[in-house]
Amino acid sequence: MASLGVNIDHVATVRQARKTDEPDPVWAAVEAELGGAACITFHLREDRRHINDRDARLLKETVATKLNMEMAIAPEIVDLACELRPDQCTIVPERREELTTEGGLDVVRHAKAIEKVVDKLTQSGIVVSAFIEPDNAQIAASAECGFHAIEIWTGGYAHAKTSQEAQAVIGKLKASIGSAKSHGLEVHAGHGLTYRNVAPIAAVAGFSEFNIGHSIVSRAMFVGMRSAVAEMARLLKENEPKE
Ligand code: PXP
Repeated sequence: MASLGVNIDHVATVRQARKTDEPDPVWAAVEAELGGAACITFHLREDRRHINDRDARLLKETVATKLNMEMAIAPEIVDLACELRPDQCTIVPERREELTTEGGLDVVRHAKAIEKVVDKLTQSGIVVSAFIEPDNAQIAASAECGFHAIEIWTGGYAHAKTSQEAQAVIGKLKASIGSAKSHGLEVHAGHGLTYRNVAPIAAVAGFSEFNIGHSIVSRAMFVGMRSAVAEMARLLKENEPKE
């Protein structure tokens, strides 16, 4: 069964709204693990707008499952990742003005720079994943750059206006999984997945990890992080692909 990675950035976003010390994303990570998260995901942005260096350090010390650090290829952040050594780094595009990561990384265009970063992180013993759109050229370039895994951007599915459009995107996702597997890449998925839309994606065979943030943190405001994560884990389990 695919594992559930919980993205805790939004907890830090609430903290930073007041620049205080609560709510603590590190507490959120513990609660998420107690609810059944198999992975904790955080994004250390260059501008530290939500997660900061203290959070990254404490998450490394306390996360007992798997720690996945989302990051851009900025040299300062790459050096920090090599020092921190999370289990996995997911390379994402980063723009200061964006509300959240918008779309995938252009591995084809930035292959030279990305390859160097993948090599450096790999030499530090870190599994490296590329956050990309379901596109064969991006998948092939990711394999060539030495990535171990890709995380396919599911925003196209989440933002689909009709069920036909959503079905068409699922077809594209399935083709991308086949292509990625033929390159020996592990396949993750994330962005825009919610309690309402996750079932058809959970039923697609071939994903080994789902990274979900906003919807889980939103529900956690009402039912608590542990219950919110348990509910999403249950949905993934109930809808897992039939062998
Ligand atoms: N995966 C990646 C690479 C992301 O950048 C994000 C957003 O931070 C997510 C997953 C989670 O997306 P959402 O918050 O929409 O669930």
